[in-house]
Amino acid sequence: SPAPEEIRDVIAPLTALEGPLLPMLHAIQAVWGHVPQAAVPVLADVLNLGRAEVHGVISFYHDFRDHPSGRHVLKICRAEACQSVGGTAMADAVLARLGVDWHGTTADGAVTVEPVYCLGLCACGPAAMIDGRVLGRVDADRLASELEAAG
Ligand code: FES
Repeated sequence: SPAPEEIRDVIAPLTALEGPLLPMLHAIQAVWGHVPQAAVPVLADVLNLGRAEVHGVISFYHDFRDHPSGRHVLKICRAEACQSVGGTAMADAVLARLGVDWHGTTADGAVTVEPVYCLGLCACGPAAMIDGRVLGRVDADRLASELEAAG
């Protein structure tokens, strides 16, 4: 876990911004891959906010994670168009196969699975994304082989 001074260094250049909390959280996540617990009191102090308020923002935005992710991040679309073409069953099958729940990371640290609400691929759902690469008309088998190929 980073020291408070390291966190202060990362966010210091952003203090002059209007509405600096989100840019600061993005900067922290860019450096450490997640928003470490230690960042909450630092942000609260620097921005004169309550810790609960900072926590609330971190958990409201799905983009921020409070623990490190696996080597790969698989996002599966849970919005309506994908659900209507079997997305829910597909997601259940993928989660069962990986042995994780939403937001979970496999025991070997290879994959974290996150829900996402529309990837703009509604015409060719079910849609998913692996490490930022969008994939259409996926099924559990294809996702398994894509993940295997990703290493
Ligand atoms: Fe899944 Fe739009 S609803 S990509």
